Amino acid sequence: LFAGQTEFVKGVVAMSGLPAPDRLEVCFAGRSNVGKSSLINALTGRRGLARASNTPGRTQEINFFTAGDAHYLVDLPGYGFANAPVPVVEKWQRLLKQYLSGRQTLRRAFVLIDARHGVKKVDDEILSLLDSAAVTFQVVLTKADKVKDADRAKVLEQVRKALSQHPAAFPEIVVTSSEKGWGIPTLRAII
Ligand code: GTP
Ligand code: MG
Repeated sequence: LFAGQTEFVKGVVAMSGLPAPDRLEVCFAGRSNVGKSSLINALTGRRGLARASNTPGRTQEINFFTAGDAHYLVDLPGYGFANAPVPVVEKWQRLLKQYLSGRQTLRRAFVLIDARHGVKKVDDEILSLLDSAAVTFQVVLTKADKVKDADRAKVLEQVRKALSQHPAAFPEIVVTSSEKGWGIPTLRAII
């Protein structure tokens, strides 16, 4: 689906900078450092396409990538703790919320949850925002290579329980590791 068809389009810092809503898109949201940019690289098969790093707060703009001629993949800044000055973080958090609740062409938000940590309070707030905006979202567990099977099962249970409180949740949870390639073909097919 994506091979050779993915290009960086632009980084957006204000709603007025969003590309025209002329094609459908999916976005990748989640706490800082959860693995959003790495997942986009794994999905597209292009290692350096979205910039990833071990510093929470790496992605500070809404980054648009083409997926073929008719769709966008959207890499979002993280929410929660970030290694950046407070006013800067507040600015991009506001933008993130405006984007998630006000983008007509957003067809699904993938909300990434660390397979070690499960759904935290900040995640739950974003899930409620998506409920209110009637944006269907789907949870993707990331960094599955970092947990034992038994622990992963516990986290999955916790996530399922959290999702049962959210009407906009798509029920299937996708377990991934960008590092190992786990779940990537499944997620590509879903997109
Ligand atoms: P922000 O842009 O800061 O919000 O972070 P992000 O959610 O885009 O995370 P990013 O993709 O930059 O990854 C953060 C760190 O996690 C990097 O050091 C990645 O190498 C690492 N990482 C991402 N995915 C995986 C994974 O599946 N397994 C492991 N072991 N590490 C991963
Ligand atoms: Mg990022």
